[in-house]
Amino acid sequence: YQPVKIAPSILSADFMHLADDIAMIEQAGAAFVHIDVMDGHFVPNLTMGVPLLKQLKAATSLVCDVHLMIDNPLTEIPWFIEAGADLVNVHAETLTEEELVRAVAMIHEAGCKAAVALKPKTPVSALAPVIADLDMALVMSVEPGFSGQSYIAGSDRKVAEAAALARAAGNEAMLIQVDGGIGEATAPLVAAAGADVLVCGNAVFKAPDPALALQTVQAAADV
Ligand code: DX5
Ligand code: ZN
Repeated sequence: YQPVKIAPSILSADFMHLADDIAMIEQAGAAFVHIDVMDGHFVPNLTMGVPLLKQLKAATSLVCDVHLMIDNPLTEIPWFIEAGADLVNVHAETLTEEELVRAVAMIHEAGCKAAVALKPKTPVSALAPVIADLDMALVMSVEPGFSGQSYIAGSDRKVAEAAALARAAGNEAMLIQVDGGIGEATAPLVAAAGADVLVCGNAVFKAPDPALALQTVQAAADV
């Protein structure tokens, strides 16, 4: 049994004091730092990209978990790997089956971990072409685009389905990450369903004591 990992999303951090926020989540016990890359096309919002990742990578020992919410991941995957991504998350909706296989292979050939993300309405079966090779699957529990939204009820069922699909494919090591509306109340649900990595934006960074909030979510998931 492995305790759940917390992946704070810096989309909710204080960009004017980002270095302080990164040091805080490191000390509080975060495992990953989650970087939400949005292009204004695949999702309506526009956030951060390669230059920020480069500086972040130089400043932290946390696993840099890059969530690509962009229309053309095959073009940009090499840029993010070059900038320091340790784990690259691509959305299944942006790629054909054949492209998805190519994306995962490209990420692995560069020595990085590969994950595939699913929007709330995308079935778990979209993972099938690559599930045997994935390091992680990302179940979105909100529509991607913005932090601070509410967890979509029933997302925990999708976590359980993804876990079952990985098991059936013989990929016992695949992690399951959940992203969107995760906090003290929702963490136990998704953890019980088999989630290994919890992304937290507002629940950590908008809390009065963010380090304590991170540990509270982790403790809530571990009961
Ligand atoms: C949503 C992003 C999330 C988001 C999480 O599109 O992928 O990572 O920032 O924020 P919270 O935890 O506030 O829902
Ligand atoms: Zn995300």
